Formats: sequence, C-alpha cells, structure tokens
Amino acid sequence: MSLTHPAHADRTDANRDVRIALLGCGTVGSGVARLLVNSTSSVPARSGVDYWLAGIGVRSLSKPRPPEIPAGLFTEDARGLVDDPTIDVVIECIGGTGVAAEFVVAALEARKHVVTANKDLLATRGPELRALAAARGVTIAYEAAVGGAIPIVRTIAESLAGEEILEVGGVLNGTTNFILSEMFGGATYAGALAAAQRLGFAETDPTNDVAGIDAAHKLAILAQLAFRRGLVTHEIPRTGITALSRDDHGLAKRAGWRLKLIACARTDSSIVTPAYVPTEHPFAQPVGPQNCIRVTGRSSGSLTFAGTGAGSGPTASSVVGDVVAVLRRITANRNAGVSTASTMLEPVREDVLEKSIPLRRVLRLATLGDVRPAREALVGSGIAAEPLDGLPAVVTAPLDSEGARCIETLIAAREIGAASVIPLWEDLSVVPSTSPLLEV
Ligand code: HSE
Repeated sequence: MSLTHPAHADRTDANRDVRIALLGCGTVGSGVARLLVNSTSSVPARSGVDYWLAGIGVRSLSKPRPPEIPAGLFTEDARGLVDDPTIDVVIECIGGTGVAAEFVVAALEARKHVVTANKDLLATRGPELRALAAARGVTIAYEAAVGGAIPIVRTIAESLAGEEILEVGGVLNGTTNFILSEMFGGATYAGALAAAQRLGFAETDPTNDVAGIDAAHKLAILAQLAFRRGLVTHEIPRTGITALSRDDHGLAKRAGWRLKLIACARTDSSIVTPAYVPTEHPFAQPVGPQNCIRVTGRSSGSLTFAGTGAGSGPTASSVVGDVVAVLRRITANRNAGVSTASTMLEPVREDVLEKSIPLRRVLRLATLGDVRPAREALVGSGIAAEPLDGLPAVVTAPLDSEGARCIETLIAAREIGAASVIPLWEDLSVVPSTSPLLEV
C-alpha cells in the first residue's frame, strides 16, 4: 500500500493496485485509517492484491488527526473521492442516514464496492442498497454494523447460507447492557446512565440506545440476512429500558434471573424488549458493554457468539476484515474476467415480520399483599395467571398481543395494582440445547 496519490493507474490493467477512499475519520474511521496504514504488508498478503489509500474525506481539515495518518491524505471534498473514477472501494465511516446515504448510493451506482459500519443506514435501507449493489455487480459489506468484531454478518450470509434459520438475536446493545449490569449491582437508572456517559458508552443524548432503537437497527440487519425478508427497524415492536427500576432487578435476583434488553427475531415475529432471563441462559451472561448473539438453525442447532460489540478497535478490525474480503473478491473477479457480487447480496423478500414474539409476562404487584385479587382479575379476563413459587407479589401470565392489551386495560382500570409488567424470556420450543461455540 502507498500513502500518497499515485499517478492515475490504467483501469484496464488487471494487476493494477486497488484504490480505496475512506469517508469519515471519527472514532471508527480513525481506527480503520490506522489499521490500513499499519497493514501495508498483511492486507495485500491476505487478499492477493496491493492497495492504495487514495484519500480520506473529512468535514474539516482543521481538526487534529492521529499523527500516524499522513496529513496529505485528508480532503474536505469527500464527494470528489466518491466521484473519482479511479477509486474502486469506498469505506463509509460517516454514520447516519444523511450524507452517508448519498455517498453510498453514488458509490454503488458508479460500480464501486462499499464497506460500511453504518447500522442506521443498513437497518432502514438495507434491502434497497443490497439490491442496488447486486444490480451493479459490486459488494456492499457491513460486518461492523452489528456486534463490533463479532463475526456474525458473514457467518449468517455465507457460513449458514444452507441453513434454515429459525431465530436470531440476543443482547445486541452494549450501552444498555452496561446500565442494566450496574443496576443489578445496586445502582439507580440515573446513576448507571451517568456512569455509561462518563465512560464513553452512552451519548449525551442516550435515546438511541436506551429506547432500544440501536438494538432494533441491528436486529433488522440480522433478520434481513437470516430470513431474506425486508424487515426494517420501525416494523419491530420495541420497548426500551427507561422504565426499569432497582425493584425489578431485586425481583430478578430473588427469582434467579437477570434483566436484559433482548432483541430477537423468529421466522414470523420479532421483538426488542427488556426481559427476565434465567441466570444460566446465554443471554444472561454478558456483563458491562458486552454483546451475546445467538443464531439457531434447524440443522445447525444454536450457535452463540459473545464479545465486545462496540468501540474503535473492534469495529475497525471488522471493517478491515470486510476490506480484505472485498479485495479478495476483486482478485477473484479479475482472475475470472467477470464482475460478480458477493453472496451477501441475495435480494430479500418484500414481506415483513409483523408480529411480536409472544412471551409470558411477569407482574410485580405494587403491594406485598395477597396476589389473589390480581390473579382473579386476570383469570376473569381469560388469562391463565399463576403466582410465582416462593415470591409474594409476583404473578406470571402467558400473553399474546391480545392478552397484553387486556392486561393494560386491567391495569388502567386499577383492577391490578401492578408496579411493573416485564416479559420472561422463553426459548423457541424447537431450540436444541445451546452450546457456546465461539468467544471473541
Ligand atoms: N451504541 C452502541 C452500543 C454502539 O452501545 O452497543 C455499537 O453499535
């Protein structure tokens, strides 16, 4: 790799170096730039082709940049890089669905391969972008959009391409898992959020994480791949963690559960919700800002992946892994004299997963008194509610969305003095026993 612009290479030369443009040099972009600058021999060795980092598009040249990245690479003309006919690969690290979307669409239209960590973009426009890439015979690669360095996107798209996937999801958001871990240790929601902000996990405006939007974005991306369906973020039933209290965690402790933000999709349903999870379950294991992602296939059984789901290092590592995969594809296409898209680009079906995953609800009652009146009110409404063994003031009830509406009505009518109503996680009945396969 070279760090300066070479003279315009002849695009008909099958052996010429690949020219890469990086857009954005924030937390993820600077990590990617560092890795590309430091991988001058390893990336070509792994991909079979040499590359030039031709430029880095940034909003302002006056911002200080990491000293190991040559200053001459930076330009404020990101659009110029996208439109440059000598650029083969565009790495998009701007984020969001504004100018980043424009650049990604323009790059794909111009038959450039795109590597991105942009989950918002893939979750809301993934099917369209994948179809555009397929039509242009190029790859859009986005391993880093879900789970940082956890290798889940290509695992689903390629390693499990022959599998009938029944379920995908788990703990997909590190910030909320950090907050819930702190609350389990006794912190209040406000104290745990402040700690998450101090440590750089949560943004000043934490809505995206705590309202479950980030987890829903990641789930949409995984479900698009797993089920080849056009699920997008706003179609996923979603509840965040802002209403959870220390008392809810107290109940979890007494019952042998953990409270986790679970994002999960099955073949006909999906959900993002806080849920009680039995302590021995894989989804109960991640602590602090860790993620846990499980894929269950009919033949493969359950595969569980765990690791750090965010941060500059893990995310940049994942982006550069995609760059190597794209470079390999370019080498293979050149050798074959054709242009083919990645196997990840199979178009998705149009229909969506409309239903919420039905889960049993745990009602923590407002008083420690007799649970019978609450139970009778539920049973009178056709809901088979049961007291929870050994725990006064707790009733569990199996609910579909009709039942959930009914419970809301009873609570509103004060027939049930419920302090909280939180789902209890239940695995698919066909799920084979879970075996942790890979720790990353
Ligand atoms: N805010 C995200 C999280 C960052 O906390 O998981 C990684 O996508």
